[in-house]
Amino acid sequence: MAIEIKNNRFHIYNNEMSYVIEISEQDDLLNLYYGARIDAEDIRLPKRGRNIVCNADDNNVMYSLSVLPQEYPSSGASDFRSPAYEIETDKGLHTPELKYKSYEIIEGKPPIKGLPAVYTEDDSEAQTIVITTADEIHGIEVKLYYTVFENQNVICRHSEITNISNQYMYLNNAQSVSLDFPAGDYEYIHLEGAWAREKHIDRNAVHKGTQGFESRRGASGHAENPFLMFFDKGSNEDYGNVYGISLVYSGNHKFTLEQEMYENVRIQAGINQFNFRFKLNKGENFITPEAVMVYSQNGFAKMTNTFHKLYRTRLCRGKWRDKTRPILINNWEATYFDFTKEKLLEIADAASKIGIELFVLDDGWFGKRNNDECSLGDWYENKEKLGGTLRELAEEMNKRGLKFGLWFEPEMISPDSDLYRTHPDWAVSIPNVRPHLSRNQLVLDYTRADVREYIIERLTDVLSGANIEYVKWDMNRNMSDVYSLNLPADRQGEFYHRYILGLYEVLEKITSAFPDILFEGCAGGGGRNDPGMLYYMPQNWASDDTDATERLYIQYGGSMVYPASTVGAHVSAVPNHQTGRISLLSMRGTVAMNGAFGYELDLSKLDKSELGEMKKQIEFYKNNRELVMTGDYYRLLNPFTSRHSAWMYVSEDKSRALVYYVVKDTRPENETVYLKLKGLDENAKYIINGETKSGRTLMNYGIVVDKAERDGDNMIFELEKR
Ligand code: DGJ
Repeated sequence: MAIEIKNNRFHIYNNEMSYVIEISEQDDLLNLYYGARIDAEDIRLPKRGRNIVCNADDNNVMYSLSVLPQEYPSSGASDFRSPAYEIETDKGLHTPELKYKSYEIIEGKPPIKGLPAVYTEDDSEAQTIVITTADEIHGIEVKLYYTVFENQNVICRHSEITNISNQYMYLNNAQSVSLDFPAGDYEYIHLEGAWAREKHIDRNAVHKGTQGFESRRGASGHAENPFLMFFDKGSNEDYGNVYGISLVYSGNHKFTLEQEMYENVRIQAGINQFNFRFKLNKGENFITPEAVMVYSQNGFAKMTNTFHKLYRTRLCRGKWRDKTRPILINNWEATYFDFTKEKLLEIADAASKIGIELFVLDDGWFGKRNNDECSLGDWYENKEKLGGTLRELAEEMNKRGLKFGLWFEPEMISPDSDLYRTHPDWAVSIPNVRPHLSRNQLVLDYTRADVREYIIERLTDVLSGANIEYVKWDMNRNMSDVYSLNLPADRQGEFYHRYILGLYEVLEKITSAFPDILFEGCAGGGGRNDPGMLYYMPQNWASDDTDATERLYIQYGGSMVYPASTVGAHVSAVPNHQTGRISLLSMRGTVAMNGAFGYELDLSKLDKSELGEMKKQIEFYKNNRELVMTGDYYRLLNPFTSRHSAWMYVSEDKSRALVYYVVKDTRPENETVYLKLKGLDENAKYIINGETKSGRTLMNYGIVVDKAERDGDNMIFELEKR
């Protein structure tokens, strides 16, 4: 790995990948190449004039910014494509032109102040180049950060924009990344969805004009995950140049693909410009969230495994990062708000008998909360409902050999709460305008230090008052009526970003004050399944949809970027509460075992044979969770295009593998499936179901699946190198 500077070129590379930036004679930073490894000195820009363009150099009519590929394009200064940043001063909008000034190389990867980011544990893992550009007339300096990893095809980018003028300015746009690709046939995938239907694959051809996706919800959202795959047309799991861009951010985001008149494609990702205007006084700066770019020359699977390893080991942090996760029982779908201590202990008794390790008490344990109409913000235990204190309940769980975990929704406030009655101004709303409720609740104004302090104080009090070893951090509404009494009129455009900065500050403080607690993020299911949250909490509840068939889609889409260790997945009751579907218990187990595994149903109502089957699932998971958490992941059959779904994990040394297969929706006399495995050692022999087969046979001929006739038929194959 190296960053090489020669003949006005920066070559950012490792063994498999190159990224080349050129400083033009005019001192512009040009984006020359990004892809498989090349020799940077061999390439050059096309020398070609275009019509109806503006010259950016009076002495060279061929030199036009709207034609050249650029690193961080300006607005209005004759590049007619999307700008990476925009500023406004008291004189109006401005058209700066950033010119190259200097560079600095840093070993390793510096942290980003106040924001989550990928990190290194040792400086030898990565190298960072910071390139400084500026426009002195407009008084703006932009530092562009690029970190390249030695052993993974990863480049992390973000920028730092400083007001170097003598007066204030507004930043109206600040992208994390801008990339210009040459004309070609491209496609892209994004993960779209809705509540209980998150992370569905949407694959499209890149076409002329502007396309993309975004969130304006104040959260990364159920509808669009902050992740883009851009690739050569026709790419698949094993073939094609693939670029993954993942934004380490939990708020409003925007991904834009723009194919312009010469068919070049500009890609940008960053904070959404929607209601964004950030005031910078003289000397102040703005730091964009980090964009993590992964390149694969060999299709989707390689990109996936690069993201998985990076996010599992260099984004997630803390004690639980490298530990397997306890199997949990959550009482939400078992009881909803309607529980007593006796009921909880009945479920706990059944849970401990079948080997479950953690009991999670969900919504309804605090204030006067017996439905979703009140008490958010009143984080005091309801002793009457709990039949005692949380401490006593935790002790009861511990006596049964179970850890105890608790649900919170710390960013919300119910109008019917003591907190709201005391501090109505703490809720996000516009003065004298009726705010729009969602699930009967409003959002707490996390831009305010007093609000953040109150929440930290309440959570600290509860978490230190009982033996709580797990926290589910929920967030069940998106933002409307955005306004803060804390901010002057010309800073209201900072609200969305300041909210997320406030949230990150609270998360940093709480998670470092309680380093032994396992935190799981949640936002009405997968409404904030993003890398930003994973920096603080190593797992995320993937969806409120616990239906096994629906989970095949959700987990397949999410697997593109997020490792199984980060995905909360539970077996729930049938008929399923979200879809009414009845699926086999074995299928529910096979699907849910692909993540941080648990159960979410009233175990005390199940018969012996169901509990017996669950006990076996639990034993199987315990024996295999290490591989699920850390193995290389391969998608074998795509549920979006097939009647079947299959995937597998392979240990790093290729000595073990686990293959999962499910019939998603059958039809009479359906086709026989030959499951062609991936990622094995082709020269090795593996024992599978008592038989010995070679890696090359398993990958080229496959496994013939016999039990594949009825909906939900499923199999798990264990492979061991002989
Ligand atoms: C939404 C979550 O996704 C559910 O799992 C549950 O915790 C409810 N909120 C509780 O209100």
